[in-house]
Parts: sequence; structure tokens; C-alpha cells
Amino acid sequence: MFYLTTAIDYTNGSPHIGHAYEKVLADVIARYRRLRGDEVFFLTGVDQHGQKVQQTAEKEGISPEEFVKRTTRKFSSLWEKLDVKYDGWAETIDERHKACVRAILSELKEQGQLYKKAHAGFYSVRQEQFLQERDRDEAGNFGPEWGEVVEIEEENWYFKLSDHTDWLKDFIESNPEVIIPAFRKAELLNALEKNSGIDLCISRPKERLQWGIEFPFDENFVTYVWFDALINYISFAGYQAAPDAGLPDFAKLWPADSRPVHIIGKDILIPAHGIYWLCMLHAMGFTDAQMPRLLVHGWWNIRGEKMAKSTGNVVDPNELADKFGVEAVRYYLVRDIVTGKDSDFDMNRLIMLFNTELANELGNLCNRALNMSQRFTGGVLQLGGPLTEDDTALQSSLTESIAAYQTAMDEFDVSKGLEALSRHIVHCNQYAERMKPWELNKNPENKERLATVLYHLAESVAHATVLLSPILPDAAAKLAGQLNLPALTAFKLTDLHWGLLPDGHVIEKPSPVFPRIVAEVEA
Ligand code: MSP
Repeated sequence: MFYLTTAIDYTNGSPHIGHAYEKVLADVIARYRRLRGDEVFFLTGVDQHGQKVQQTAEKEGISPEEFVKRTTRKFSSLWEKLDVKYDGWAETIDERHKACVRAILSELKEQGQLYKKAHAGFYSVRQEQFLQERDRDEAGNFGPEWGEVVEIEEENWYFKLSDHTDWLKDFIESNPEVIIPAFRKAELLNALEKNSGIDLCISRPKERLQWGIEFPFDENFVTYVWFDALINYISFAGYQAAPDAGLPDFAKLWPADSRPVHIIGKDILIPAHGIYWLCMLHAMGFTDAQMPRLLVHGWWNIRGEKMAKSTGNVVDPNELADKFGVEAVRYYLVRDIVTGKDSDFDMNRLIMLFNTELANELGNLCNRALNMSQRFTGGVLQLGGPLTEDDTALQSSLTESIAAYQTAMDEFDVSKGLEALSRHIVHCNQYAERMKPWELNKNPENKERLATVLYHLAESVAHATVLLSPILPDAAAKLAGQLNLPALTAFKLTDLHWGLLPDGHVIEKPSPVFPRIVAEVEA
């Protein structure tokens, strides 16, 4: 089983292009793994508790329940619009999740992993956490990233994180494959050095925060939002759930010898996932072989700046999809960023990439392969005659392209996978220009050669359709219909070898799938 999750989005605002990128990336990977033959479970959802939600709901004069219901819908309807197809949906106000969090708190307490103590210190309201001396900047101040910082003294519950950090350091050093991309490993090990000896405050007194999961053994406290949210990866996977809870079978999703993949942004590797979560799992008895892999993606920025609601510097994925279509948005979001690195959102590049790689190159190839087959051979594809060097070169280009696509996609590098596919499509168009099927058609003596050329083009379109299906499921389904292929779910990557279309295969009537985007864009 390939168990894949994303971060769960805060429901104190609206989704922007950064949230959309992560969900589309996960959807592409889930669909690709299915194509690869894996059984996949893809979980995503929303993070509904915490101080920010409580504060925003208060400002709007409504209850936090009502507020999160409203904002949750903004996320789920966007995923539906963007064709993000998940198998499990996590909402942290779900009673089954709350029960799981409480059971874990009780167990950890019984094992002596939790203790209560009073602490006086500086508290960041924005980040909902106590600050340490190491959080001060060079001038000795708490920087703007912490927002309002207040001095408070209060009693809280702590998790003995420090019991697990030595193990974590060894674990990361000896299992480098769990942190993807590799360059993030050093950052994590660095942070671990700084973190040693510090325990994690996992409660918030009710006087300050009511909107959270109440402690099972101390009603004056609710659970710290990160401790609550991280548990979604196991609660919605059926961890310790009753068989009739309507949740997956945990043993199947997360067996003892398998690592799920958590897709997260670079901002939540340290300390939340890289330190807290791995230590929490360790304290709960998860083995080294069961520790998840963390696929850490970079950020979409705007003109080099962080996207922020406060500066109005955000791109609304809904508007973008209305303007350019879902397929253009999906394509751009995974094409113009290297997984792990940051990228700059640029509408001109969205249009340029769609128009060059899809409308021009792939569109042109489809047009040549399908339209000409329809017009010149009545829609019947035939293997034709003996192969020339050009034909075998085209077949090799396809084989290479499939291999490069698979290597890149296995490494979660969707952009590189698409690049590999594009290379073959460019090759096909150059082949068409050299073979000139429109000229061959003028002389009946060339009938066999014409059939061979058209077959090579159509066969390439069929392969491209299957390879594109994880990224552009809708366009791929349309192409599959025109090619008269079986439903795309019937294909596995291993089926992709020359001869996908049998001799005598009849195609349907073609129509353009990637109409050029004609848009005026502000500079
Ligand atoms: N609620 C927490 C995650 C809890 S996971 C147990 C959270 N939510 S968030 O809404 O702030 O962010 C959700 C995801 O979106 C994170 O992985 C974050 O990195 C990602 N992104 C937020 N802004 C982004 C960009 N500008 N670009 C790419 N991804 C971004 O953190």
C-alpha cells in the first residue's frame, strides 16, 4: 500500500495557490503510483482548531464551529474543482479524531511521557507557542515572524520530547532516505542540536483557548494545535479505531515495514514534522522501519516575495482556474517548479508553458496523428511496411522518454517527468515534418509508408495520453476517447511498450483538446 498524505490546511483563511500546489502535487503522485501498479490511499484535509480560528471567528461574531464549517467548504470545493481526488478527508473537529488524540494523551501519560509544570516566559500569540532564548534575533529581539509577544506565567502539560531526540538524531543519520530532498537533512540535524534538552508544551489553558481538544485527564486544558493536527495522519488512517468507525484498516495502510509519504511545505519541517511528529511516533511505539518519509516541497512566491494575505500578495486558484481552465492550472503548478525548491508564480509563464508544450507541441502532434489518420486512412491505423531509421529512432526516443519519466516521477520530480515527455513530443513533430505524411498522401504508391508514419505518430499520442493522465486526467480522458482506447484506469506503466494500438485499430473523430490561451496579462 502506498499511503500518501498532505499537510492539513488551516481553516482560518482561504486557500491560495500554495495550498493548491501541494494538493495537486499529491494528487499527481497518487495517480502516478496507481499507474505504476500500487494500491494507493491519499489523505488530505483541514486543520480546524487553535487560537487563530478562535480569534477570527470572534472577530466575525460567529461560533468557531460555524466559522470552520464555512472555511472548510472553501477548501473542499476547490479540491473538487481542481480534480484533486483523495481517498480520505481529515477534519480535526471529527469526533473520531478527537477520541484518538485523547487516547494517545492518556497512553503517553500512563507511560510517564507527560508531566505538568509551571513556566514563565515569552509567548508568541501568532505562533501559539512559548519562545526560547534561541528564538531571539542577533539584536536580542523576537523578530516580526513571531507577531505579538507577551510575557506570561502558566502551568501546562509537557511531552518529554527530550527523551527521544538522541534516537531521532541517530535515526536521521542512518536513514537519510526519509528526508526528501536530501539537502533538508542537514537543516534538520542542525535544528536538533539546538533543540536538545527541551520538552514540548502540548497544552493550552482554557482561560486562553477553548477551541481545541480537551485533555482527557485535566479539563482545564485543551491540546496544542500542532499535537492535535499531526495525529490526523494516524487517526484518519484508522489507528486504534473501532472496526465500525468508517475508517481504513490501519494495519493495511501503515504496516510495520512500510513508510507512508507525508508531503509538506518547507516551513513545517522544523520543528513540527521533522522533530515533534517523529518523536511522537517513537513515543507511541512506532518502529524505525515505520517512520514516515517527509517529502518537503518549496514555496510559490510572487516576485520573490512571500505570498501573504496582509499585503494582498496572493493568487486565488479559483480565479485562475476560471480564467485559464483547470488543466492549465494543474499543468503550471507542477511544471514550473522543481520539487523541493521555490519558484516564482508568473501568469505569463503559465500561458507560455501551456501554449508551447500543450497547445503547440502536443496539440500539433494530436492534430497530425489523429486528423490525418481520419482524413487519409479513414481513421484506420495500420502497422504499414518496413521500418526506416527514422522510425526506429522515434521508437527509441519513446522508450527513453518513458524511462526518464518513470525515474523522475519515482523521485517525485513531476517537472522533470513532463520535460521527458515533452522531448518525445518534439521529436515526433520533427519526424512528421521530415516524413511529410501530407505529401505522401498525394501518391497512392506511398500508401504503406503513409500508414507506417501515421501509426508512429498515433502510437506516440497513445503513450503520451497514458503518461499525461496523472497530471491532466481530464484532457487525457478526452484524448483516450478520440483514440478509442479503453478507460485509462485499465493501463499500467508496464503496458507501455511499442504496439499499444493493435494493427487495424480504428480511432474516433478528433477534436482539439488544448485550445491556445489567448489572454491579455498585466506586466
Ligand atoms: N495546519 C498546518 C499544517 C498541519 S499538518 C499536520 C499548516 N497549514 S497552512 O495552511 O499554513 O499550510 C498548509 C500547507 O501549505 C503547508 O505544507 C505549507 O507549507 C503549504 N504552503 C503554504 N503557503 C505556501 C506557498 N506559498 N507555496 C507552497 N506551499 C505553501 O501549516
